Amino acid sequence: MELKIPDHIAIIMDGNGRWAKQKGMPRTYGHKAGADTLRKILSYSGEIGVKYLTVYAFSTENWKRAKEEVDTLMFLFKAYLKSEKKTLMKNNVRFLVSGREEGVSKDLLKEIKKLEEETKDNTGITLNIAFNYGGRSEIVDAINKMIENNETNITEETVEKYLYTKIPDPELVIRTSGEMRISNFLLWQIAYSEIYVTESYWPDFNKEELIKAIENYSKRDRRFGGVK
Ligand code: FPP
Repeated sequence: MELKIPDHIAIIMDGNGRWAKQKGMPRTYGHKAGADTLRKILSYSGEIGVKYLTVYAFSTENWKRAKEEVDTLMFLFKAYLKSEKKTLMKNNVRFLVSGREEGVSKDLLKEIKKLEEETKDNTGITLNIAFNYGGRSEIVDAINKMIENNETNITEETVEKYLYTKIPDPELVIRTSGEMRISNFLLWQIAYSEIYVTESYWPDFNKEELIKAIENYSKRDRRFGGVK
């Protein structure tokens, strides 16, 4: 079967907590393992020709979690920004973050901006991390910016101009850990995306799983509301 590699894959990296619990470990252990899975999946996605990889790392709702867990996620992200710079440059990865700035520490925002700037001319895969991200907040923020700029005659293109990140819509959304939900992820951008759900928890997701998802996607008949 011919594999159709999507230009843009978006992933809801779910199940870190349950994966850790299954092993009798704290949830934070699952997030650490999840960060390692992300490194591997990014590298493999780049190798097979995926152009954009968006991952849901922290939602606007995740602030409700226990302080220790939120602190670990912040720490892991900050550590990732530092430890990955070399690898991202070596692998020609462009790094982007999509999300609300409000609520994120100045320090972390500075590190994010720095890495975005340093990798902006890289021409390989784009890694877009949805961080302090909510699909509804993104649309609300876009509306407010349109009002501020006195935009009139709003079209879909106008809205798209005001979303956090200007990259093409994902053709494929993958969610791990078996939940059949979108959880406020990329609401605007996934209007016509294909959705694939695997039972595996994110730390167990691997190359083989990614290929399985792409194989499944390759068989889909995408009609975009039309008839074939
Ligand atoms: C969902 O699993 C996962 C998250 C809320 C965080 C995802 C974060 C990472 C994969 C690691 C850090 C990321 C970077 C960019 C370094 P869950 O905690 O909801 O799991 P559960 O549903 O089993 O409780």
